[in-house]
Amino acid sequence: MAQVTIHVPPRPYQARIENGLLARSGALLAELLPQASKVFVVTVPPVRKRWGAKLVRSLVSAGFKPQVIQMPNGEPAKKLKTIETLAERLSRLGADRRAVLIALGGGVVGDVTGLLASLYMRGVELVQVPTTVLAQVDASVGGKTGVNLGAGKNLLGTFHHPRVVLIDPEVLRTLPDRDFRAGLYEALKCGIIGDLDLFLRFEQKRAQILKRDPVELEGVIAQSVKLKAEVVSADEHEGGLRRVLNLGHTIGHALEVETGYGTLLHGEAVAWGMIAATNIALTVGRTDSVTAGRIADAVLSLGRLPELKVSARKILARLQADKKTQNGVVHFVLPREIGKVEIASDVPDSVVIGAVEELRRLSRGGWGKSK
Ligand SMILES: NC(=O)c1ccc[n+]([C@@H]2O[C@H](COP(=O)([O-])OP(=O)(O)OC[C@H]3O[C@@H](n4cnc5c(N)ncnc54)[C@H](O)[C@@H]3O)[C@@H](O)[C@H]2O)c1
Ligand SMILES: [Zn+2]
Repeated sequence: MAQVTIHVPPRPYQARIENGLLARSGALLAELLPQASKVFVVTVPPVRKRWGAKLVRSLVSAGFKPQVIQMPNGEPAKKLKTIETLAERLSRLGADRRAVLIALGGGVVGDVTGLLASLYMRGVELVQVPTTVLAQVDASVGGKTGVNLGAGKNLLGTFHHPRVVLIDPEVLRTLPDRDFRAGLYEALKCGIIGDLDLFLRFEQKRAQILKRDPVELEGVIAQSVKLKAEVVSADEHEGGLRRVLNLGHTIGHALEVETGYGTLLHGEAVAWGMIAATNIALTVGRTDSVTAGRIADAVLSLGRLPELKVSARKILARLQADKKTQNGVVHFVLPREIGKVEIASDVPDSVVIGAVEELRRLSRGGWGKSK
């Protein structure tokens, strides 16, 4: 089993990554949380149907009496009303300060359950059991919780670290293909930011990864989590270093908003954003054409991406209004070489526009045409 420690105050915690871990989660939690009064599994119908019984069985055989609480599926459920409804359920079911909430699902369940755990009785224990690639490599580690407001995504949230993150790559077997690939872009991002070996895995074992070979997936996920854990451990609250995790997210986020949430999956927007950042790095002389070509190939070879029909000028305007903008300056994370990135705040507008126009062209040129 791969174990990664996330060093954050007041208490470090572990992410454990292993095929088949779901079936052993009860025993692990019994050891880790002997004082737990009641455990509540928060999940959504599609995940409950496929993986709920396995988790519940494991908890029961370890002596817990888990209760499953369902929330509606999908991003629209990531709102404050859901937190209130779930909290009322918890209270009716007798949850007290020693209750433990287990988030079984993708990033939406993780973010909502995390926020709920940080608020319920001013904070109860949280366990993350992520079931999408995105949640396994990104959302479940780092302690960010949140819900959306009408004005934008994740505008209401807290930091509430889980007690442990239990990652079983086998659960990815039932993930829809598009969600699976969208999560892989975030894993690939970890390679580009700081792990040459991880990037090489994508270059050399792409076919196995895309076929969801359990051994390859376990490796990819463990290395991605390790990278994220290192960054989070060094910079818990996104002061400086944590910003490198935003590779592809500056333009990616603007693409998500401009195309209307739901058109592009987050990971797909990040994929386009990473290609744009790479083109920018090449144009301003921060990287060389071989590196840029390898990054673009690695992204584009993971499958088709939806076509982009956005105006480059509108994207630029969005960037200037984005929350990552500080004092009117747009910051970009730019790849320098594979495994090394830098933050740039001096990218001319014309270069940004050129990079977005290049995305439009690429998405039309056969690569990534939407169905
Ligand atoms: N907290 C953080 O640091 C952080 C980081 C990145 C993203 N996020 C958040 O994560 C969310 C996106 O997460 P997501 O992409 O996992 O979306 P999601 O949670 O909506 O899951 C995607 C879909 O897959 C289904 N699903 C989940 N696991 C499955 C499985 N094993 N088999 C079959 N179906 C399964 C879900 O029911 C859903 O329909 C966004 O709200 C984003 O803001 C948070
Ligand atoms: Zn992301």
